[in-house]
Amino acid sequence: MTSSGLSAGQKAAAGNALDDDLALTPPMGWNSWNAFKADIDEPKIKQIADAMVTSGMRDAGYTYLVLDDGWMAADRDADGNLVADPNKFPGGMKAIGDYIHSKGLKFGIYEDRGHLTCQQLPGSFRHEQADMTTFASWGVDYIKLDSCFAESNGRLSTEDYALYRHFITQAGRPMVLSISDFGNGAWAWGGEETAQLWRTSGDIYPWMGSVYHCADTSAGDRSIHPAFNGLWQFAGPGHWNDPDMLQVGNLKNDIQNKAHFSLWCILAAPLMAGNDLRAMSDAVKNVLTAPEVIKVNQDPRGIQGYKVHDDGDHEIYNKPLQDGTTAVLLLNKGSAPADITVTWDKIGLSGRQKVRDLWARKDLGSHTYSYTAANLPRHGHMLLKIGTTGPPLAAPKPLSPDRYMVTKTGTTYLGDLCYIWKSGNAPKTDKNYNNDPITINGKTYDKGLGCRGRSRVMYKLNNKADTFKAVVGLDDSYNADGTGRFRVYNEDFFGNRKLFDSGKMSKDSPAKTIDLDVTGVKCLLLVFEGDKVAGNWANARALAIKSL
Ligand code: GAL
Repeated sequence: MTSSGLSAGQKAAAGNALDDDLALTPPMGWNSWNAFKADIDEPKIKQIADAMVTSGMRDAGYTYLVLDDGWMAADRDADGNLVADPNKFPGGMKAIGDYIHSKGLKFGIYEDRGHLTCQQLPGSFRHEQADMTTFASWGVDYIKLDSCFAESNGRLSTEDYALYRHFITQAGRPMVLSISDFGNGAWAWGGEETAQLWRTSGDIYPWMGSVYHCADTSAGDRSIHPAFNGLWQFAGPGHWNDPDMLQVGNLKNDIQNKAHFSLWCILAAPLMAGNDLRAMSDAVKNVLTAPEVIKVNQDPRGIQGYKVHDDGDHEIYNKPLQDGTTAVLLLNKGSAPADITVTWDKIGLSGRQKVRDLWARKDLGSHTYSYTAANLPRHGHMLLKIGTTGPPLAAPKPLSPDRYMVTKTGTTYLGDLCYIWKSGNAPKTDKNYNNDPITINGKTYDKGLGCRGRSRVMYKLNNKADTFKAVVGLDDSYNADGTGRFRVYNEDFFGNRKLFDSGKMSKDSPAKTIDLDVTGVKCLLLVFEGDKVAGNWANARALAIKSL
Protein backbone atom coordinates (compact mmCIF):
# COMPACT_ATOMS: atom_id res chain seq x y z
CA MET A 1 0.00 0.00 0.00
CA THR A 2 1.18 3.52 -0.67
CA SER A 3 0.64 6.38 1.75
CA SER A 4 -2.35 7.59 -0.26
CA GLY A 5 -4.20 4.44 0.74
CA LEU A 6 -4.31 3.09 -2.82
CA SER A 7 -2.13 0.18 -3.83
CA ALA A 8 0.39 0.91 -6.56
CA GLY A 9 -1.72 -1.25 -8.86
CA GLN A 10 -4.88 0.71 -8.12
CA LYS A 11 -3.07 3.95 -8.77
CA ALA A 12 -1.64 2.61 -11.99
CA ALA A 13 -5.12 1.59 -13.07
CA ALA A 14 -6.20 5.17 -12.43
CA GLY A 15 -3.49 6.12 -14.93
CA ASN A 16 -1.64 8.49 -12.65
CA ALA A 17 0.37 6.45 -10.22
CA LEU A 18 2.91 8.08 -8.02
CA ASP A 19 4.99 5.22 -6.76
CA ASP A 20 5.52 6.46 -3.21
CA ASP A 21 7.58 3.40 -2.42
CA LEU A 22 10.37 4.64 -4.69
CA ALA A 23 11.63 7.16 -2.17
CA LEU A 24 10.56 5.97 1.26
CA THR A 25 13.73 7.61 2.52
CA PRO A 26 15.42 10.64 0.91
CA PRO A 27 17.04 9.69 -2.43
CA MET A 28 20.84 9.37 -2.36
CA GLY A 29 23.17 9.60 -5.31
CA TRP A 30 25.48 11.81 -7.31
CA ASN A 31 24.63 14.51 -9.84
CA SER A 32 27.01 16.00 -12.39
CA TRP A 33 26.00 19.68 -12.12
CA ASN A 34 27.88 20.97 -9.08
CA ALA A 35 31.16 19.36 -10.14
CA PHE A 36 31.12 19.71 -13.92
CA LYS A 37 28.23 21.97 -15.01
CA ALA A 38 27.44 20.98 -18.61
CA ASP A 39 30.94 19.64 -19.25
CA ILE A 40 30.09 15.93 -19.09
CA ASP A 41 30.94 13.08 -21.42
CA GLU A 42 31.04 9.31 -21.61
CA PRO A 43 34.54 8.71 -20.16
CA LYS A 44 33.91 11.08 -17.27
CA ILE A 45 30.56 9.58 -16.36
CA LYS A 46 31.94 6.05 -16.56
CA GLN A 47 34.84 7.05 -14.31
CA ILE A 48 32.36 8.52 -11.84
CA ALA A 49 30.34 5.30 -11.91
CA ASP A 50 33.54 3.36 -11.20
CA ALA A 51 34.46 5.77 -8.42
CA MET A 52 31.05 5.43 -6.82
CA VAL A 53 31.82 1.76 -6.38
CA THR A 54 35.52 1.89 -5.46
CA SER A 55 35.12 4.79 -3.03
CA GLY A 56 32.43 2.97 -1.08
CA MET A 57 29.82 5.61 -1.97
CA ARG A 58 27.49 3.04 -3.52
CA ASP A 59 27.72 0.80 -0.50
CA ALA A 60 27.10 3.76 1.78
CA GLY A 61 23.74 4.20 0.01
CA TYR A 62 24.43 6.54 -2.93
CA THR A 63 22.38 4.77 -5.57
CA TYR A 64 21.50 7.24 -8.31
CA LEU A 65 24.00 8.56 -10.82
CA VAL A 66 22.25 11.54 -12.41
CA LEU A 67 23.39 13.25 -15.61
CA ASP A 68 22.37 16.89 -15.34
CA ASP A 69 22.00 19.41 -18.16
CA GLY A 70 24.36 19.11 -21.13
CA TRP A 71 23.95 15.46 -22.13
CA MET A 72 21.74 15.93 -25.15
CA ALA A 73 22.32 16.98 -28.75
CA ALA A 74 21.27 20.48 -29.79
CA ASP A 75 18.52 19.00 -31.95
CA ARG A 76 16.09 16.15 -31.74
CA ASP A 77 16.34 13.46 -34.44
CA ALA A 78 14.15 13.41 -37.56
CA ASP A 79 11.38 11.62 -35.62
CA GLY A 80 11.43 14.21 -32.86
CA ASN A 81 13.21 11.99 -30.34
CA LEU A 82 15.80 13.20 -27.88
CA VAL A 83 19.31 12.03 -28.67
CA ALA A 84 22.59 12.17 -26.81
CA ASP A 85 25.21 14.69 -27.87
CA PRO A 86 27.12 12.55 -30.42
CA ASN A 87 30.49 14.01 -29.48
CA LYS A 88 30.09 13.70 -25.75
CA PHE A 89 28.20 10.42 -25.66
CA PRO A 90 28.95 8.58 -28.92
CA GLY A 91 27.56 5.32 -27.54
CA GLY A 92 24.20 6.92 -26.75
CA MET A 93 22.28 7.13 -23.51
CA LYS A 94 21.08 3.55 -23.36
CA ALA A 95 24.71 2.43 -23.27
CA ILE A 96 25.52 4.86 -20.46
CA GLY A 97 22.49 3.60 -18.59
CA ASP A 98 23.61 0.00 -19.09
CA TYR A 99 27.06 0.85 -17.78
CA ILE A 100 25.61 2.58 -14.72
CA HIS A 101 23.31 -0.39 -14.07
CA SER A 102 26.18 -2.84 -14.50
CA LYS A 103 27.82 -1.17 -11.50
CA GLY A 104 24.79 -1.81 -9.32
CA LEU A 105 23.73 1.83 -9.57
CA LYS A 106 20.59 3.53 -10.85
CA PHE A 107 20.43 5.87 -13.82
CA GLY A 108 19.17 9.43 -13.50
CA ILE A 109 18.73 12.04 -16.19
CA TYR A 110 17.91 15.76 -16.46
CA GLU A 111 15.24 17.37 -18.58
CA ASP A 112 13.26 20.57 -18.54
CA ARG A 113 9.52 21.19 -18.87
CA GLY A 114 10.07 24.31 -20.95
CA HIS A 115 10.83 24.22 -24.68
CA LEU A 116 14.55 24.53 -23.82
CA THR A 117 16.65 23.43 -20.88
CA CYS A 118 18.50 26.02 -18.80
CA GLN A 119 21.50 25.41 -21.11
CA GLN A 120 19.20 26.00 -24.09
CA LEU A 121 19.16 22.41 -25.25
CA PRO A 122 15.89 20.73 -26.32
CA GLY A 123 13.30 20.79 -23.54
CA SER A 124 10.36 18.43 -23.20
CA PHE A 125 7.49 20.87 -23.76
CA ARG A 126 5.10 19.26 -26.26
CA HIS A 127 7.26 16.11 -26.26
CA GLU A 128 6.26 14.89 -22.81
CA GLN A 129 4.91 11.51 -23.77
CA ALA A 130 7.66 10.72 -26.27
CA ASP A 131 10.41 11.75 -23.85
CA MET A 132 9.07 9.74 -20.91
CA THR A 133 8.80 6.74 -23.21
CA THR A 134 12.34 7.31 -24.46
CA PHE A 135 13.67 7.56 -20.92
CA ALA A 136 11.94 4.33 -19.94
CA SER A 137 13.48 2.61 -22.98
CA TRP A 138 16.93 3.81 -21.92
CA GLY A 139 16.42 2.35 -18.46
CA VAL A 140 16.14 5.68 -16.66
CA ASP A 141 15.26 5.39 -12.95
CA TYR A 142 15.18 9.07 -11.91
CA ILE A 143 14.23 12.25 -13.72
CA LYS A 144 15.22 15.71 -12.58
CA LEU A 145 12.73 17.97 -14.31
CA ASP A 146 13.81 21.59 -14.47
CA SER A 147 11.67 24.66 -15.15
CA CYS A 148 13.59 27.11 -17.32
CA PHE A 149 11.32 28.67 -19.98
CA ALA A 150 8.27 26.95 -18.49
CA GLU A 151 6.47 30.30 -18.04
CA SER A 152 5.47 30.19 -21.68
CA ASN A 153 3.90 26.72 -21.48
CA GLY A 154 0.57 28.16 -20.45
CA ARG A 155 0.16 25.39 -17.90
CA LEU A 156 -0.01 25.61 -14.15
CA SER A 157 2.72 23.67 -12.39
CA THR A 158 0.10 21.28 -11.07
CA GLU A 159 -1.08 20.63 -14.64
CA ASP A 160 2.43 20.31 -16.01
CA TYR A 161 3.71 17.85 -13.42
CA ALA A 162 0.51 15.80 -13.52
CA LEU A 163 1.13 15.35 -17.23
CA TYR A 164 4.64 14.03 -16.66
CA ARG A 165 3.45 11.76 -13.89
CA HIS A 166 0.80 10.38 -16.22
CA PHE A 167 3.28 9.66 -19.01
CA ILE A 168 5.82 8.18 -16.59
CA THR A 169 3.14 5.79 -15.38
CA GLN A 170 2.18 5.01 -18.94
CA ALA A 171 5.81 4.35 -19.85
CA GLY A 172 5.63 1.48 -17.38
CA ARG A 173 8.98 1.96 -15.64
CA PRO A 174 9.24 3.21 -12.06
CA MET A 175 11.01 6.58 -12.25
CA VAL A 176 11.53 9.03 -9.42
CA LEU A 177 10.36 12.52 -10.38
CA SER A 178 12.43 15.34 -8.91
CA ILE A 179 10.84 18.78 -9.30
CA SER A 180 13.38 21.48 -10.00
CA ASP A 181 11.48 24.76 -9.89
CA PHE A 182 13.89 26.94 -7.92
CA GLY A 183 11.71 26.74 -4.82
CA ASN A 184 8.44 28.11 -6.15
CA GLY A 185 6.25 26.35 -3.64
CA ALA A 186 5.64 22.75 -4.74
CA TRP A 187 4.86 21.90 -1.11
CA ALA A 188 2.02 24.42 -1.28
CA TRP A 189 0.20 23.26 -4.37
CA GLY A 190 0.69 19.55 -3.87
CA GLY A 191 4.01 18.46 -5.36
CA GLU A 192 3.65 15.22 -3.46
CA GLU A 193 0.81 14.15 -5.74
CA THR A 194 3.17 13.92 -8.68
CA ALA A 195 6.77 13.91 -7.47
CA GLN A 196 8.94 12.40 -4.78
CA LEU A 197 11.01 15.52 -4.18
CA TRP A 198 10.91 19.23 -4.94
CA ARG A 199 13.37 22.03 -4.71
CA THR A 200 12.85 24.55 -1.94
CA SER A 201 15.56 26.96 -3.08
CA GLY A 202 17.43 28.50 -5.96
CA ASP A 203 20.79 26.99 -6.91
CA ILE A 204 23.31 26.13 -4.21
CA TYR A 205 26.89 27.42 -4.56
CA PRO A 206 30.09 26.21 -2.90
CA TRP A 207 30.24 28.65 -0.03
CA MET A 208 28.64 28.55 3.39
CA GLY A 209 26.39 31.58 2.91
CA SER A 210 24.68 29.72 0.10
CA VAL A 211 24.56 26.45 2.05
CA TYR A 212 22.90 28.16 5.03
CA HIS A 213 20.56 30.08 2.76
CA CYS A 214 19.38 26.88 1.05
CA ALA A 215 19.02 25.08 4.40
CA ASP A 216 16.85 27.91 5.67
CA THR A 217 14.47 27.64 2.74
CA SER A 218 13.57 24.24 4.16
CA ALA A 219 14.15 24.80 7.89
CA GLY A 220 13.41 28.47 8.44
CA ASP A 221 10.98 31.22 7.46
CA ARG A 222 12.72 32.23 4.25
CA SER A 223 10.05 30.68 2.09
CA ILE A 224 7.08 30.13 4.41
CA HIS A 225 5.27 31.82 7.29
CA PRO A 226 7.23 31.57 10.57
CA ALA A 227 4.32 29.77 12.28
CA PHE A 228 5.15 26.64 10.25
CA ASN A 229 8.70 26.52 11.68
CA GLY A 230 10.02 25.49 8.27
CA LEU A 231 8.71 23.01 5.76
CA TRP A 232 9.06 19.87 7.84
CA GLN A 233 5.35 19.12 7.86
CA PHE A 234 5.34 18.69 4.08
CA ALA A 235 8.02 15.97 4.09
CA GLY A 236 7.78 12.31 4.93
CA PRO A 237 8.28 8.86 3.42
CA GLY A 238 7.79 9.20 -0.35
CA HIS A 239 7.97 13.02 -0.55
CA TRP A 240 10.86 15.27 0.39
CA ASN A 241 11.87 18.93 0.55
CA ASP A 242 15.02 19.43 -1.50
CA PRO A 243 17.26 22.37 -0.55
CA ASP A 244 19.43 21.43 -3.58
CA MET A 245 22.38 19.14 -4.15
CA LEU A 246 25.42 18.73 -1.96
CA GLN A 247 28.52 20.90 -2.18
CA VAL A 248 30.40 18.61 0.22
CA GLY A 249 33.95 18.38 -1.13
CA ASN A 250 33.61 21.72 -2.93
CA LEU A 251 33.67 23.81 0.25
CA LYS A 252 36.77 25.25 1.89
CA ASN A 253 37.50 22.72 4.60
CA ASP A 254 36.39 19.77 6.67
CA ILE A 255 34.37 21.73 9.19
CA GLN A 256 32.33 23.36 6.42
CA ASN A 257 31.79 20.07 4.62
CA LYS A 258 30.62 18.48 7.86
CA ALA A 259 28.31 21.35 8.84
CA HIS A 260 26.68 21.17 5.39
CA PHE A 261 26.32 17.40 5.52
CA SER A 262 24.95 17.43 9.09
CA LEU A 263 22.31 19.96 8.09
CA TRP A 264 21.20 17.97 5.05
CA CYS A 265 21.05 14.81 7.15
CA ILE A 266 19.00 16.29 9.98
CA LEU A 267 16.68 17.94 7.40
CA ALA A 268 16.01 14.60 5.70
CA ALA A 269 17.16 16.28 2.49
CA PRO A 270 17.98 14.24 -0.60
CA LEU A 271 21.72 13.49 -0.54
CA MET A 272 22.94 14.06 -4.09
CA ALA A 273 26.70 14.41 -3.94
CA GLY A 274 28.12 17.05 -6.29
CA ASN A 275 31.89 16.72 -6.04
CA ASP A 276 34.36 15.10 -8.43
CA LEU A 277 34.41 11.61 -6.95
CA ARG A 278 37.48 10.70 -9.01
CA ALA A 279 39.61 13.14 -7.05
CA MET A 280 37.98 12.87 -3.65
CA SER A 281 40.24 13.12 -0.59
CA ASP A 282 39.85 10.63 2.24
CA ALA A 283 38.60 13.41 4.46
CA VAL A 284 35.76 14.23 2.05
CA LYS A 285 34.97 10.55 1.55
CA ASN A 286 34.75 10.13 5.32
CA VAL A 287 32.20 12.91 5.51
CA LEU A 288 30.04 11.62 2.67
CA THR A 289 30.07 8.04 3.90
CA ALA A 290 29.85 8.61 7.68
CA PRO A 291 27.53 5.72 8.55
CA GLU A 292 25.82 7.03 11.66
CA VAL A 293 25.28 10.46 10.14
CA ILE A 294 23.70 8.97 7.00
CA LYS A 295 21.46 6.84 9.21
CA VAL A 296 19.89 10.00 10.60
CA ASN A 297 19.05 11.10 7.07
CA GLN A 298 17.74 7.68 6.08
CA ASP A 299 15.74 7.02 9.23
CA PRO A 300 12.60 5.13 8.13
CA ARG A 301 10.29 7.29 10.23
CA GLY A 302 11.07 10.09 7.78
CA ILE A 303 10.50 13.06 10.07
CA GLN A 304 12.32 16.11 8.74
CA GLY A 305 14.35 17.66 11.56
CA TYR A 306 13.08 21.03 12.76
CA LYS A 307 14.54 23.91 14.72
CA VAL A 308 13.94 24.02 18.44
CA HIS A 309 16.23 27.02 18.91
CA ASP A 310 17.57 29.76 16.66
CA ASP A 311 18.98 33.01 17.99
CA GLY A 312 20.51 34.01 14.67
CA ASP A 313 23.95 32.55 15.37
CA HIS A 314 23.23 29.35 17.25
CA GLU A 315 20.81 26.69 16.11
CA ILE A 316 19.45 23.46 17.55
CA TYR A 317 17.57 20.96 15.41
CA ASN A 318 15.61 17.92 16.55
CA LYS A 319 14.71 14.81 14.52
CA PRO A 320 12.82 12.07 16.38
CA LEU A 321 13.90 8.70 15.03
CA GLN A 322 12.14 5.40 14.48
CA ASP A 323 14.00 3.62 17.29
CA GLY A 324 12.79 5.87 20.11
CA THR A 325 15.89 8.05 20.27
CA THR A 326 16.24 11.46 18.70
CA ALA A 327 18.94 13.09 16.58
CA VAL A 328 19.99 16.58 17.61
CA LEU A 329 22.23 19.04 15.79
CA LEU A 330 23.89 21.87 17.70
CA LEU A 331 25.35 24.34 15.21
CA ASN A 332 27.31 27.55 15.62
CA LYS A 333 26.87 29.79 12.58
CA GLY A 334 28.27 32.84 14.35
CA SER A 335 31.84 34.09 14.08
CA ALA A 336 32.58 33.87 17.84
CA PRO A 337 33.21 30.50 19.50
CA ALA A 338 30.19 29.41 21.54
CA ASP A 339 28.81 26.82 23.93
CA ILE A 340 25.43 25.50 22.82
CA THR A 341 23.19 23.66 25.27
CA VAL A 342 20.21 21.51 24.42
CA THR A 343 17.81 20.93 27.28
CA TRP A 344 15.72 17.78 27.25
CA ASP A 345 12.41 19.63 27.48
CA LYS A 346 13.07 21.00 23.98
CA ILE A 347 13.37 17.52 22.50
CA GLY A 348 10.62 15.63 24.31
CA LEU A 349 12.82 13.96 26.91
CA SER A 350 13.42 14.25 30.65
CA GLY A 351 15.62 12.77 33.37
CA ARG A 352 18.87 11.03 32.60
CA GLN A 353 19.61 10.27 28.95
CA LYS A 354 22.36 8.60 26.99
CA VAL A 355 24.19 10.81 24.48
CA ARG A 356 26.19 9.61 21.47
CA ASP A 357 28.40 11.63 19.12
CA LEU A 358 27.48 10.46 15.60
CA TRP A 359 30.54 11.89 13.83
CA ALA A 360 33.01 10.47 16.35
CA ARG A 361 30.86 7.30 16.75
CA LYS A 362 31.45 7.55 20.46
CA ASP A 363 29.19 7.36 23.52
CA LEU A 364 29.41 10.45 25.66
CA GLY A 365 27.83 8.96 28.77
CA SER A 366 24.50 9.80 30.39
CA HIS A 367 23.43 13.34 31.14
CA THR A 368 20.66 14.81 33.26
CA TYR A 369 18.40 17.46 31.76
CA SER A 370 20.83 18.86 29.18
CA TYR A 371 23.96 18.49 27.11
CA THR A 372 26.38 21.27 26.23
CA ALA A 373 28.59 21.30 23.17
CA ALA A 374 31.46 23.43 24.40
CA ASN A 375 33.53 25.95 22.54
CA LEU A 376 32.18 25.39 19.04
CA PRO A 377 34.03 27.52 16.47
CA ARG A 378 32.27 29.10 13.46
CA HIS A 379 30.48 26.29 11.55
CA GLY A 380 31.41 24.00 14.46
CA HIS A 381 28.70 21.63 15.53
CA MET A 382 27.83 18.33 17.16
CA LEU A 383 25.42 15.80 15.76
CA LEU A 384 24.09 13.70 18.62
CA LYS A 385 21.79 10.79 19.19
CA ILE A 386 20.02 11.16 22.51
CA GLY A 387 17.88 8.73 24.48
CA THR A 388 17.32 5.00 24.63
CA THR A 389 15.66 2.73 22.14
CA GLY A 390 11.98 2.00 22.67
CA PRO A 391 8.67 3.35 21.45
CA PRO A 392 9.11 6.38 19.18
CA LEU A 393 8.99 9.83 20.79
CA ALA A 394 6.05 12.06 19.96
CA ALA A 395 6.17 13.59 16.50
CA PRO A 396 6.11 17.39 16.29
CA LYS A 397 2.69 18.98 15.80
CA PRO A 398 1.96 20.31 12.31
CA LEU A 399 0.18 23.63 11.87
CA SER A 400 -3.53 22.87 11.58
CA PRO A 401 -5.18 23.42 8.18
CA ASP A 402 -7.48 26.21 9.37
CA ARG A 403 -4.40 28.32 10.12
CA TYR A 404 -3.27 28.29 6.49
CA MET A 405 -6.16 27.31 4.24
CA VAL A 406 -9.65 28.52 3.55
CA THR A 407 -11.75 26.05 5.54
CA LYS A 408 -14.94 27.90 6.32
CA THR A 409 -17.95 29.40 4.58
CA GLY A 410 -18.04 33.18 4.55
CA THR A 411 -15.11 35.57 4.66
CA THR A 412 -11.51 34.62 5.34
CA TYR A 413 -9.15 37.57 5.60
CA LEU A 414 -5.81 36.59 4.11
CA GLY A 415 -4.03 38.32 6.96
CA ASP A 416 -5.63 35.76 9.28
CA LEU A 417 -4.04 32.93 7.29
CA CYS A 418 -0.37 32.00 7.37
CA TYR A 419 1.05 32.37 3.88
CA ILE A 420 2.35 29.10 2.50
CA TRP A 421 5.07 30.48 0.24
CA LYS A 422 6.92 33.74 0.05
CA SER A 423 9.81 35.37 -1.70
CA GLY A 424 11.15 38.79 -0.81
CA ASN A 425 9.64 40.83 2.01
CA ALA A 426 7.01 39.23 4.22
CA PRO A 427 3.80 41.28 4.45
CA LYS A 428 2.59 42.83 7.70
CA THR A 429 -0.85 41.79 8.89
CA ASP A 430 -3.50 44.52 9.28
CA LYS A 431 -0.76 47.18 9.32
CA ASN A 432 1.23 48.98 6.70
CA TYR A 433 4.87 48.02 6.26
CA ASN A 434 5.93 50.36 9.09
CA ASN A 435 3.41 48.79 11.47
CA ASP A 436 1.11 51.79 11.29
CA PRO A 437 -2.53 51.64 10.17
CA ILE A 438 -3.13 50.90 6.49
CA THR A 439 -4.26 54.08 4.71
CA ILE A 440 -4.82 54.65 1.01
CA ASN A 441 -6.00 58.00 -0.39
CA GLY A 442 -6.90 59.14 3.11
CA LYS A 443 -8.99 56.11 3.93
CA THR A 444 -7.96 53.80 6.77
CA TYR A 445 -8.50 50.05 6.59
CA ASP A 446 -8.56 47.76 9.63
CA LYS A 447 -7.68 44.66 7.68
CA GLY A 448 -5.18 43.91 4.96
CA LEU A 449 -1.57 43.20 4.12
CA GLY A 450 1.08 45.90 4.22
CA CYS A 451 3.97 45.27 1.86
CA ARG A 452 7.27 46.72 0.85
CA GLY A 453 8.48 45.83 -2.62
CA ARG A 454 9.47 43.29 -3.63
CA SER A 455 6.99 41.03 -1.88
CA ARG A 456 5.51 37.83 -3.24
CA VAL A 457 3.23 35.69 -1.13
CA MET A 458 1.06 32.69 -1.79
CA TYR A 459 -2.08 31.79 0.14
CA LYS A 460 -3.81 28.46 -0.02
CA LEU A 461 -7.45 28.83 -1.06
CA ASN A 462 -7.55 25.07 -1.54
CA ASN A 463 -10.29 25.27 -4.19
CA LYS A 464 -12.64 26.45 -1.49
CA ALA A 465 -13.17 30.14 -2.27
CA ASP A 466 -15.38 31.67 -4.96
CA THR A 467 -14.24 35.27 -4.83
CA PHE A 468 -11.16 37.27 -3.90
CA LYS A 469 -11.57 40.92 -3.03
CA ALA A 470 -9.16 43.66 -2.03
CA VAL A 471 -8.41 47.34 -2.50
CA VAL A 472 -4.87 48.13 -3.59
CA GLY A 473 -2.77 51.26 -3.63
CA LEU A 474 0.41 52.76 -2.26
CA ASP A 475 0.34 53.51 1.44
CA ASP A 476 -0.24 57.17 2.32
CA SER A 477 3.01 57.17 4.30
CA TYR A 478 4.92 56.61 1.09
CA ASN A 479 6.01 60.00 -0.09
CA ALA A 480 8.55 59.38 -2.84
CA ASP A 481 8.36 59.09 -6.60
CA GLY A 482 8.64 55.33 -7.00
CA THR A 483 5.88 53.22 -8.46
CA GLY A 484 4.39 49.96 -7.28
CA ARG A 485 2.53 47.30 -9.20
CA PHE A 486 0.09 44.73 -7.82
CA ARG A 487 -0.51 41.47 -9.62
CA VAL A 488 -2.51 38.38 -8.72
CA TYR A 489 -1.81 34.95 -10.20
CA ASN A 490 -3.45 31.58 -10.04
CA GLU A 491 -0.78 29.37 -8.40
CA ASP A 492 2.86 30.10 -9.20
CA PHE A 493 4.55 32.13 -11.94
CA PHE A 494 5.04 29.19 -14.25
CA GLY A 495 1.42 28.97 -15.27
CA ASN A 496 1.48 32.68 -16.11
CA ARG A 497 -2.24 32.79 -15.25
CA LYS A 498 -2.53 36.41 -14.35
CA LEU A 499 -5.87 37.27 -12.76
CA PHE A 500 -5.24 40.94 -12.01
CA ASP A 501 -2.69 43.61 -12.87
CA SER A 502 -2.90 47.09 -11.40
CA GLY A 503 -0.29 48.51 -13.74
CA LYS A 504 2.17 51.00 -12.26
CA MET A 505 0.71 53.01 -9.38
CA SER A 506 2.21 56.12 -7.86
CA LYS A 507 1.45 57.85 -4.55
CA ASP A 508 -1.21 59.92 -6.29
CA SER A 509 -2.99 57.04 -8.02
CA PRO A 510 -6.52 56.35 -6.84
CA ALA A 511 -6.96 52.98 -5.10
CA LYS A 512 -8.04 50.08 -7.31
CA THR A 513 -10.64 47.52 -6.39
CA ILE A 514 -10.07 43.83 -7.01
CA ASP A 515 -13.04 41.51 -7.33
CA LEU A 516 -12.05 38.19 -8.85
CA ASP A 517 -13.69 34.88 -9.49
CA VAL A 518 -11.28 32.36 -7.95
CA THR A 519 -13.36 29.23 -8.35
CA GLY A 520 -11.07 26.22 -8.65
CA VAL A 521 -7.96 28.13 -7.56
CA LYS A 522 -5.79 26.09 -5.25
CA CYS A 523 -3.22 28.75 -4.43
CA LEU A 524 -3.37 32.49 -4.96
CA LEU A 525 -0.13 34.38 -5.57
CA LEU A 526 -0.02 38.06 -4.62
CA VAL A 527 2.87 39.99 -6.13
CA PHE A 528 3.81 43.53 -5.19
CA GLU A 529 6.73 45.06 -7.01
CA GLY A 530 8.35 48.44 -6.57
CA ASP A 531 11.77 49.19 -5.17
CA LYS A 532 11.33 50.01 -1.47
CA VAL A 533 7.81 51.21 -2.24
CA ALA A 534 5.10 50.66 0.41
CA GLY A 535 1.82 49.27 -0.89
CA ASN A 536 -1.22 47.61 0.61
CA TRP A 537 -3.62 44.83 -0.18
CA ALA A 538 -6.30 46.48 1.91
CA ASN A 539 -9.18 44.32 3.09
CA ALA A 540 -7.70 41.35 1.21
CA ARG A 541 -10.15 38.52 1.66
CA ALA A 542 -11.33 35.28 0.18
CA LEU A 543 -15.03 34.59 0.15
CA ALA A 544 -16.44 31.14 0.19
CA ILE A 545 -20.07 31.41 -0.68
CA LYS A 546 -20.96 27.78 -1.08
CA SER A 547 -21.14 26.02 2.26
CA LEU A 548 -17.98 24.01 2.90
C1 GAL B 1 19.29 25.02 -12.99
C2 GAL B 1 19.11 24.00 -11.89
C3 GAL B 1 20.47 23.41 -11.61
C4 GAL B 1 20.99 22.76 -12.87
C5 GAL B 1 20.99 23.76 -14.03
C6 GAL B 1 21.30 23.11 -15.36
O1 GAL B 1 18.08 25.60 -13.26
O2 GAL B 1 18.57 24.61 -10.74
O3 GAL B 1 20.38 22.49 -10.56
O4 GAL B 1 20.20 21.66 -13.18
O5 GAL B 1 19.75 24.40 -14.16
O6 GAL B 1 21.29 23.99 -16.44
